Amino acid sequence: MELRDAFPEEFRSQLDLLMRLRRDVRRFRSDPVDEAVLMRCLSAIPLAPSVGLSEPWRILRVESAEARATALANFEKANAEALQGYSGERAERYAGLKLSGMRDAPVQLAFYCDDETAQGHGLGAATMPEMRRYSVVTAITLFWLALRAEGLGLGWVSVLDPEKLNRDLAAPESWKLIGYFCIGYPERLSDTPELQESGWESRMADLPLETR
Ligand SMILES: Cc1cc2nc3c(=O)[nH]c(=O)nc-3n(C[C@H](O)[C@H](O)[C@H](O)COP(=O)(O)O)c2cc1C
Repeated sequence: MELRDAFPEEFRSQLDLLMRLRRDVRRFRSDPVDEAVLMRCLSAIPLAPSVGLSEPWRILRVESAEARATALANFEKANAEALQGYSGERAERYAGLKLSGMRDAPVQLAFYCDDETAQGHGLGAATMPEMRRYSVVTAITLFWLALRAEGLGLGWVSVLDPEKLNRDLAAPESWKLIGYFCIGYPERLSDTPELQESGWESRMADLPLETR
């Protein structure tokens, strides 16, 4: 492996572009995802940082029609309940959003954090055990970018009843759900978050950076 200090300007501008064009995707084409490509993207996960080198990420691949149907029903129920939390024009907007691609995504993965892993010997997680879960999120971010670099999209679904999903997928007790992920080729590309395009929310104008 080549060890280097800084990467060339051309690489850095491509990396910037990759990050700018990463989107949360909810609309997928039906083309299948090549297994080798998926595995290449998954291989980004162990490259992620993790508290105490605990590598607490655990992944369930959701493949069977039955498992997918229960996950979809779980989302639809949680989404209908979330809608009840809004009223007036906000409720109309919420109802118009597409918040998962679970009907179409060719690959679906549930990511978990093993809160009780012995790996890492508890380093860094004694006062803040949630650091293990944050470690899984860092891994998901690398996976997300690796997918995007291959032309694939990922959609994060969190509108779910996690306890029910865990039971339905027979996840071990110590695993906590981080998210349910839809993966496939996006119907379209955009440099703007879909929630911004749909008028739900806009990106902040400035980075909230303060000095003390
Ligand atoms: C922790 C987390 C949970 C999310 N849950 C959902 C979700 O349930 N449904 C959805 O459509 N998008 C979900 N998203 C995607 C966000 O809506 C999206 O990242 C944000 O609108 C910015 O858009 P972008 O990712 O395309 O830049 C989630 C993102 C994160 C980081």
